[in-house]
Amino acid sequence: MKHEELKKLDQDTILGTYARNDVSLVWGRGAVCRSEDGKRYIDFTSGIGVNALGFSDPQWAEAVGRQAAALQHTSNLYYTEPCALLAERLTARTGLSKVFFCNSGAEANEGAIKAARKYGFEKRGILRPEIITLENSFHGRTMATVSATGQNVFHKFFAPFLEGFAYVPADDTARLRAAVTADTCAVIIETVQGEGGVVALDAAFVRDIAALCAKRDLLFIIDEVQTGVGRTGKFYAYEHFGVRPDIVTTAKALGGGLPIGAILFGEKCDAVLGPGEHGSTFGGNPVACAGGLVILDRIDEPFLEEVRRKAAYITEALAKLPSVRSVSGLGLMIGVELAEKNAKEVVAACAKRGLLILTAKEKLRLLPPLNIGAEETEEGLFILREVLES
Ligand SMILES: Cc1ncc(COP(=O)(O)O)c(C=O)c1O
Repeated sequence: MKHEELKKLDQDTILGTYARNDVSLVWGRGAVCRSEDGKRYIDFTSGIGVNALGFSDPQWAEAVGRQAAALQHTSNLYYTEPCALLAERLTARTGLSKVFFCNSGAEANEGAIKAARKYGFEKRGILRPEIITLENSFHGRTMATVSATGQNVFHKFFAPFLEGFAYVPADDTARLRAAVTADTCAVIIETVQGEGGVVALDAAFVRDIAALCAKRDLLFIIDEVQTGVGRTGKFYAYEHFGVRPDIVTTAKALGGGLPIGAILFGEKCDAVLGPGEHGSTFGGNPVACAGGLVILDRIDEPFLEEVRRKAAYITEALAKLPSVRSVSGLGLMIGVELAEKNAKEVVAACAKRGLLILTAKEKLRLLPPLNIGAEETEEGLFILREVLES
Protein backbone atom coordinates (compact mmCIF):
# COMPACT_ATOMS: atom_id res chain seq x y z
CA MET A 1 0.00 0.00 0.00
CA LYS A 2 1.30 3.47 -0.89
CA HIS A 3 2.30 5.67 2.06
CA GLU A 4 -0.44 8.30 1.62
CA GLU A 5 -3.13 5.61 1.28
CA LEU A 6 -1.83 3.76 4.37
CA LYS A 7 -1.57 6.97 6.35
CA LYS A 8 -5.19 7.82 5.58
CA LEU A 9 -6.42 4.32 6.44
CA ASP A 10 -4.44 4.39 9.72
CA GLN A 11 -5.71 7.84 10.67
CA ASP A 12 -9.30 6.85 9.81
CA THR A 13 -9.24 3.68 11.87
CA ILE A 14 -6.52 3.76 14.56
CA LEU A 15 -7.18 5.64 17.81
CA GLY A 16 -5.19 8.86 17.70
CA THR A 17 -2.93 8.28 20.73
CA TYR A 18 0.40 8.27 18.85
CA ALA A 19 2.21 11.09 17.06
CA ARG A 20 3.56 9.00 14.19
CA ASN A 21 6.47 10.15 12.02
CA ASP A 22 5.52 10.66 8.38
CA VAL A 23 7.11 7.34 7.34
CA SER A 24 5.68 3.88 6.56
CA LEU A 25 8.28 1.20 7.22
CA VAL A 26 8.16 -2.04 5.28
CA TRP A 27 11.52 -3.77 5.69
CA GLY A 28 14.50 -3.81 8.05
CA ARG A 29 17.73 -5.68 8.69
CA GLY A 30 20.05 -4.79 11.56
CA ALA A 31 20.31 -1.02 11.94
CA VAL A 32 18.93 -0.28 8.46
CA CYS A 33 15.31 -0.12 7.34
CA ARG A 34 13.34 0.99 4.30
CA SER A 35 10.10 2.84 3.84
CA GLU A 36 7.38 1.98 1.36
CA ASP A 37 8.90 4.27 -1.30
CA GLY A 38 12.28 2.51 -1.05
CA LYS A 39 14.02 5.22 1.02
CA ARG A 40 16.78 3.91 3.30
CA TYR A 41 17.05 4.86 6.98
CA ILE A 42 19.65 4.29 9.69
CA ASP A 43 17.84 3.32 12.87
CA PHE A 44 18.92 4.87 16.18
CA THR A 45 15.63 3.94 17.91
CA SER A 46 15.45 0.10 18.09
CA GLY A 47 11.66 0.44 18.19
CA ILE A 48 12.12 2.40 21.49
CA GLY A 49 14.68 0.07 23.01
CA VAL A 50 13.13 -3.21 21.83
CA ASN A 51 15.11 -4.46 18.82
CA ALA A 52 18.35 -5.24 20.70
CA LEU A 53 19.71 -7.11 17.66
CA GLY A 54 18.23 -4.67 15.17
CA PHE A 55 15.53 -5.52 12.65
CA SER A 56 14.82 -9.18 11.86
CA ASP A 57 18.13 -10.68 12.93
CA PRO A 58 18.40 -13.97 10.93
CA GLN A 59 19.14 -16.25 13.94
CA TRP A 60 16.34 -14.65 15.96
CA ALA A 61 13.86 -14.82 13.04
CA GLU A 62 14.73 -18.48 12.40
CA ALA A 63 14.21 -19.47 16.08
CA VAL A 64 10.93 -17.55 16.29
CA GLY A 65 9.68 -19.01 12.97
CA ARG A 66 10.64 -22.54 14.01
CA GLN A 67 8.77 -22.23 17.31
CA ALA A 68 5.73 -20.67 15.62
CA ALA A 69 5.59 -23.61 13.22
CA ALA A 70 5.98 -26.18 16.02
CA LEU A 71 3.69 -24.83 18.79
CA GLN A 72 2.58 -21.20 19.01
CA HIS A 73 0.62 -21.12 22.27
CA THR A 74 -0.59 -23.58 24.90
CA SER A 75 -1.88 -21.46 27.87
CA ASN A 76 -0.18 -21.62 31.22
CA LEU A 77 -1.97 -24.88 32.05
CA TYR A 78 0.86 -26.82 30.36
CA TYR A 79 4.65 -26.89 30.46
CA THR A 80 6.63 -25.62 27.48
CA GLU A 81 10.40 -25.73 27.10
CA PRO A 82 11.16 -22.18 25.85
CA CYS A 83 9.42 -20.67 28.88
CA ALA A 84 11.32 -22.77 31.45
CA LEU A 85 14.63 -22.34 29.61
CA LEU A 86 14.26 -18.56 29.45
CA ALA A 87 13.45 -18.42 33.16
CA GLU A 88 16.52 -20.58 33.87
CA ARG A 89 18.75 -18.20 31.85
CA LEU A 90 17.34 -15.12 33.59
CA THR A 91 17.80 -16.55 37.09
CA ALA A 92 21.33 -17.78 36.25
CA ARG A 93 22.18 -14.33 34.89
CA THR A 94 20.89 -12.36 37.88
CA GLY A 95 21.02 -14.65 40.92
CA LEU A 96 17.31 -13.91 41.42
CA SER A 97 15.32 -17.06 42.03
CA LYS A 98 11.90 -17.02 40.32
CA VAL A 99 10.33 -15.53 37.18
CA PHE A 100 6.77 -14.53 36.30
CA PHE A 101 6.25 -13.93 32.57
CA CYS A 102 3.83 -11.36 31.19
CA ASN A 103 3.60 -9.23 28.04
CA SER A 104 4.81 -5.69 28.64
CA GLY A 105 6.67 -3.35 30.94
CA ALA A 106 3.53 -1.93 32.52
CA GLU A 107 2.23 -5.42 33.19
CA ALA A 108 5.53 -6.41 34.83
CA ASN A 109 5.33 -3.34 37.09
CA GLU A 110 1.67 -4.10 37.92
CA GLY A 111 2.70 -7.54 39.15
CA ALA A 112 5.59 -6.09 41.15
CA ILE A 113 3.21 -3.61 42.82
CA LYS A 114 0.82 -6.44 43.73
CA ALA A 115 3.69 -8.53 45.13
CA ALA A 116 5.00 -5.60 47.19
CA ARG A 117 1.56 -4.90 48.67
CA LYS A 118 1.06 -8.54 49.62
CA TYR A 119 4.59 -8.73 51.05
CA GLY A 120 3.80 -5.74 53.29
CA PHE A 121 0.59 -7.37 54.47
CA GLU A 122 2.05 -10.82 55.09
CA LYS A 123 5.30 -9.74 56.72
CA ARG A 124 4.16 -6.71 58.67
CA GLY A 125 0.35 -6.77 58.68
CA ILE A 126 0.17 -3.52 56.67
CA LEU A 127 -3.42 -2.94 55.55
CA ARG A 128 -2.85 0.17 53.43
CA PRO A 129 0.65 -0.38 52.01
CA GLU A 130 2.60 2.46 50.46
CA ILE A 131 5.29 2.26 47.78
CA ILE A 132 7.89 5.02 47.44
CA THR A 133 8.51 6.09 43.86
CA LEU A 134 10.67 8.85 42.37
CA GLU A 135 9.66 12.16 40.89
CA ASN A 136 10.31 12.25 37.14
CA SER A 137 9.93 8.44 36.92
CA PHE A 138 7.96 6.49 34.32
CA HIS A 139 6.50 3.06 35.03
CA GLY A 140 3.75 2.58 32.42
CA ARG A 141 0.26 3.49 31.25
CA THR A 142 -2.05 1.21 33.24
CA MET A 143 -3.89 2.72 36.23
CA ALA A 144 -1.45 1.34 38.82
CA THR A 145 1.68 2.14 36.84
CA VAL A 146 0.54 5.59 35.78
CA SER A 147 -0.15 6.24 39.49
CA ALA A 148 3.37 5.01 40.31
CA THR A 149 4.78 7.34 37.64
CA GLY A 150 6.13 10.49 39.31
CA GLN A 151 5.26 13.02 36.60
CA ASN A 152 2.23 15.30 36.91
CA VAL A 153 1.80 15.39 33.16
CA PHE A 154 0.55 11.77 33.36
CA HIS A 155 -1.75 12.50 36.31
CA LYS A 156 -4.49 14.22 34.33
CA PHE A 157 -7.99 13.14 33.28
CA PHE A 158 -8.06 9.59 34.66
CA ALA A 159 -8.80 10.20 38.35
CA PRO A 160 -9.24 8.58 40.77
CA PHE A 161 -5.64 7.36 40.63
CA LEU A 162 -4.43 4.45 42.72
CA GLU A 163 -3.61 5.37 46.29
CA GLY A 164 -0.53 4.11 48.05
CA PHE A 165 2.35 5.90 46.34
CA ALA A 166 4.67 8.49 47.90
CA TYR A 167 6.83 10.53 45.54
CA VAL A 168 10.33 11.70 46.46
CA PRO A 169 12.92 13.62 44.39
CA ALA A 170 15.74 11.58 42.87
CA ASP A 171 19.16 11.71 44.54
CA ASP A 172 17.76 13.06 47.82
CA THR A 173 18.44 10.50 50.57
CA ALA A 174 17.11 12.74 53.35
CA ARG A 175 13.72 13.12 51.61
CA LEU A 176 13.67 9.39 50.92
CA ARG A 177 14.30 8.51 54.58
CA ALA A 178 11.68 11.02 55.70
CA ALA A 179 9.10 9.45 53.36
CA VAL A 180 9.35 5.99 54.96
CA THR A 181 6.41 5.30 57.30
CA ALA A 182 5.11 2.21 59.12
CA ASP A 183 3.02 1.55 55.97
CA THR A 184 5.92 1.60 53.50
CA CYS A 185 6.40 -1.79 51.83
CA ALA A 186 8.70 -1.04 48.86
CA VAL A 187 10.72 1.45 46.83
CA ILE A 188 10.62 1.39 43.01
CA ILE A 189 13.18 3.14 40.80
CA GLU A 190 14.64 3.25 37.32
CA THR A 191 18.43 3.60 37.64
CA VAL A 192 18.32 5.71 34.47
CA GLN A 193 15.05 7.63 34.07
CA GLY A 194 14.39 7.08 30.38
CA GLU A 195 11.12 8.85 29.59
CA GLY A 196 12.12 11.42 32.23
CA GLY A 197 14.93 12.67 29.97
CA VAL A 198 17.61 9.92 30.09
CA VAL A 199 18.86 10.87 33.54
CA ALA A 200 21.05 8.42 35.48
CA LEU A 201 20.60 8.37 39.25
CA ASP A 202 23.51 9.09 41.53
CA ALA A 203 25.20 5.80 42.54
CA ALA A 204 25.39 6.78 46.22
CA PHE A 205 21.62 7.43 46.24
CA VAL A 206 20.92 4.00 44.71
CA ARG A 207 23.12 2.37 47.36
CA ASP A 208 21.30 4.36 50.06
CA ILE A 209 17.98 2.98 48.81
CA ALA A 210 19.37 -0.58 48.92
CA ALA A 211 20.62 -0.09 52.49
CA LEU A 212 17.35 1.49 53.63
CA CYS A 213 15.29 -1.33 52.08
CA ALA A 214 17.44 -3.97 53.77
CA LYS A 215 17.24 -2.20 57.15
CA ARG A 216 13.45 -1.55 57.10
CA ASP A 217 12.43 -4.78 55.33
CA LEU A 218 11.14 -2.97 52.24
CA LEU A 219 11.24 -4.57 48.81
CA PHE A 220 13.73 -2.88 46.51
CA ILE A 221 12.16 -2.94 43.04
CA ILE A 222 14.19 -1.89 40.00
CA ASP A 223 12.30 -1.15 36.81
CA GLU A 224 14.69 -2.33 34.07
CA VAL A 225 12.08 -2.12 31.32
CA GLN A 226 14.08 0.41 29.29
CA THR A 227 17.55 0.02 30.85
CA GLY A 228 17.63 -3.80 30.83
CA VAL A 229 18.90 -6.54 28.51
CA GLY A 230 22.24 -4.97 27.64
CA ARG A 231 21.11 -1.43 26.82
CA THR A 232 23.46 0.25 29.31
CA GLY A 233 26.45 -2.04 28.71
CA LYS A 234 25.60 -4.44 31.56
CA PHE A 235 22.88 -7.06 31.25
CA TYR A 236 20.86 -5.12 33.84
CA ALA A 237 21.73 -1.50 34.66
CA TYR A 238 21.64 -2.08 38.44
CA GLU A 239 24.94 -3.97 38.00
CA HIS A 240 26.65 -0.59 37.43
CA PHE A 241 25.48 0.55 40.87
CA GLY A 242 26.72 -2.34 43.05
CA VAL A 243 23.27 -3.19 44.47
CA ARG A 244 21.05 -6.28 44.59
CA PRO A 245 17.34 -5.61 44.08
CA ASP A 246 14.61 -7.88 45.49
CA ILE A 247 12.51 -7.51 42.33
CA VAL A 248 13.50 -6.64 38.76
CA THR A 249 10.90 -5.81 36.12
CA THR A 250 12.01 -6.31 32.52
CA ALA A 251 10.36 -6.15 29.08
CA LYS A 252 11.13 -4.21 25.85
CA ALA A 253 14.34 -5.88 24.53
CA LEU A 254 13.74 -9.20 26.31
CA GLY A 255 11.98 -10.75 23.31
CA GLY A 256 14.08 -8.95 20.69
CA GLY A 257 10.89 -7.55 19.09
CA LEU A 258 8.10 -9.76 20.41
CA PRO A 259 5.82 -8.72 23.27
CA ILE A 260 7.14 -10.17 26.49
CA GLY A 261 7.75 -8.89 30.01
CA ALA A 262 8.93 -10.55 33.19
CA ILE A 263 9.13 -10.00 36.92
CA LEU A 264 12.24 -11.51 38.51
CA PHE A 265 11.91 -12.24 42.23
CA GLY A 266 14.71 -12.67 44.75
CA GLU A 267 14.50 -15.24 47.54
CA LYS A 268 13.08 -12.73 50.02
CA CYS A 269 9.81 -12.49 48.08
CA ASP A 270 9.72 -15.37 45.61
CA ALA A 271 6.80 -17.10 47.34
CA VAL A 272 4.65 -14.00 47.88
CA LEU A 273 2.34 -14.55 44.91
CA GLY A 274 0.76 -18.00 45.12
CA PRO A 275 -1.66 -20.10 43.05
CA GLY A 276 -4.49 -18.06 41.57
CA GLU A 277 -3.12 -14.73 42.82
CA HIS A 278 -1.64 -13.57 39.54
CA GLY A 279 -1.74 -14.71 35.93
CA SER A 280 -1.61 -13.78 32.26
CA THR A 281 -3.05 -15.64 29.28
CA PHE A 282 -0.11 -14.90 27.01
CA GLY A 283 2.62 -14.78 29.69
CA GLY A 284 5.47 -17.16 28.85
CA ASN A 285 4.24 -17.65 25.29
CA PRO A 286 6.61 -20.13 23.59
CA VAL A 287 7.22 -17.99 20.48
CA ALA A 288 8.09 -14.88 22.52
CA CYS A 289 10.30 -17.00 24.81
CA ALA A 290 12.07 -18.58 21.80
CA GLY A 291 12.96 -15.03 20.72
CA GLY A 292 14.11 -14.28 24.28
CA LEU A 293 16.41 -17.31 24.31
CA VAL A 294 18.31 -15.98 21.29
CA ILE A 295 18.63 -12.59 23.00
CA LEU A 296 20.00 -14.18 26.18
CA ASP A 297 22.44 -16.32 24.17
CA ARG A 298 23.76 -13.46 22.07
CA ILE A 299 24.10 -10.80 24.78
CA ASP A 300 27.11 -12.32 26.53
CA GLU A 301 30.06 -10.55 28.19
CA PRO A 302 32.07 -9.84 24.96
CA PHE A 303 28.88 -8.44 23.39
CA LEU A 304 28.36 -6.15 26.42
CA GLU A 305 31.96 -4.99 26.22
CA GLU A 306 31.30 -3.96 22.61
CA VAL A 307 28.16 -2.09 23.73
CA ARG A 308 30.27 -0.12 26.24
CA ARG A 309 32.90 0.62 23.57
CA LYS A 310 30.33 1.84 21.04
CA ALA A 311 28.60 3.90 23.72
CA ALA A 312 31.84 5.63 24.69
CA TYR A 313 32.58 6.39 21.02
CA ILE A 314 29.12 7.85 20.25
CA THR A 315 28.95 9.82 23.51
CA GLU A 316 32.36 11.36 22.89
CA ALA A 317 31.52 12.25 19.29
CA LEU A 318 28.28 13.97 20.36
CA ALA A 319 29.82 15.82 23.30
CA LYS A 320 32.28 17.51 20.90
CA LEU A 321 29.54 19.18 18.86
CA PRO A 322 29.06 22.90 19.54
CA SER A 323 25.29 22.50 19.09
CA VAL A 324 25.19 19.98 21.98
CA ARG A 325 24.98 21.32 25.54
CA SER A 326 25.36 17.98 27.33
CA VAL A 327 25.14 14.24 26.81
CA SER A 328 23.46 12.07 29.46
CA GLY A 329 22.55 8.44 30.07
CA LEU A 330 24.41 5.20 30.36
CA GLY A 331 25.73 2.87 27.64
CA LEU A 332 23.66 2.98 24.45
CA MET A 333 20.84 4.81 26.23
CA ILE A 334 21.88 8.30 25.24
CA GLY A 335 20.23 11.67 25.92
CA VAL A 336 21.37 14.79 24.06
CA GLU A 337 20.58 18.24 25.43
CA LEU A 338 20.68 20.75 22.60
CA ALA A 339 22.10 24.24 22.94
CA GLU A 340 19.45 25.93 20.79
CA LYS A 341 17.59 23.67 18.41
CA ASN A 342 14.19 22.15 19.11
CA ALA A 343 14.42 18.36 19.60
CA LYS A 344 11.18 17.53 17.75
CA GLU A 345 12.29 19.57 14.73
CA VAL A 346 15.68 17.81 14.76
CA VAL A 347 13.93 14.40 14.77
CA ALA A 348 11.85 15.41 11.72
CA ALA A 349 14.89 16.84 9.88
CA CYS A 350 16.91 13.67 10.60
CA ALA A 351 14.09 11.47 9.26
CA LYS A 352 14.06 13.51 6.03
CA ARG A 353 17.79 12.79 5.62
CA GLY A 354 17.49 9.10 6.49
CA LEU A 355 18.10 8.80 10.24
CA LEU A 356 15.51 7.73 12.80
CA ILE A 357 15.95 9.09 16.34
CA LEU A 358 13.73 9.79 19.37
CA THR A 359 13.05 12.49 21.93
CA ALA A 360 12.82 12.29 25.73
CA LYS A 361 11.31 15.46 27.16
CA GLU A 362 13.32 18.32 25.54
CA LYS A 363 16.28 16.11 24.66
CA LEU A 364 17.13 13.91 21.72
CA ARG A 365 17.22 10.25 22.71
CA LEU A 366 19.36 7.71 20.87
CA LEU A 367 18.74 3.98 21.37
CA PRO A 368 20.61 2.32 18.50
CA PRO A 369 20.51 -1.46 18.13
CA LEU A 370 23.10 -2.95 20.50
CA ASN A 371 24.86 -4.73 17.62
CA ILE A 372 25.02 -1.69 15.31
CA GLY A 373 28.08 -1.76 13.04
CA ALA A 374 30.75 0.93 12.67
CA GLU A 375 29.52 1.94 9.19
CA GLU A 376 25.91 2.52 10.25
CA THR A 377 27.09 4.34 13.38
CA GLU A 378 29.20 6.72 11.27
CA GLU A 379 26.40 7.23 8.76
CA GLY A 380 23.92 8.05 11.53
CA LEU A 381 26.32 10.41 13.30
CA PHE A 382 27.09 12.14 10.01
CA ILE A 383 23.40 12.87 9.37
CA LEU A 384 22.84 14.01 12.95
CA ARG A 385 25.88 16.30 12.78
CA GLU A 386 24.64 17.76 9.44
CA VAL A 387 21.20 18.48 10.87
CA LEU A 388 22.53 19.98 14.11
CA GLU A 389 25.07 22.13 12.30
CA SER A 390 22.69 23.35 9.56
C1 LIG B 1 11.03 2.44 32.67
C2 LIG B 1 9.79 2.01 31.99
N1 LIG B 1 8.89 1.28 32.66
C3 LIG B 1 7.75 0.84 32.10
C4 LIG B 1 7.45 1.14 30.80
C5 LIG B 1 6.16 0.66 30.18
O1 LIG B 1 6.44 -0.39 29.30
P1 LIG B 1 5.35 -0.89 28.24
O2 LIG B 1 5.17 0.21 27.26
O3 LIG B 1 5.95 -2.14 27.66
O4 LIG B 1 4.11 -1.19 29.02
C6 LIG B 1 8.35 1.90 30.04
C7 LIG B 1 8.05 2.26 28.64
O5 LIG B 1 8.63 3.12 28.05
C8 LIG B 1 9.56 2.34 30.65
O6 LIG B 1 10.44 3.08 29.98
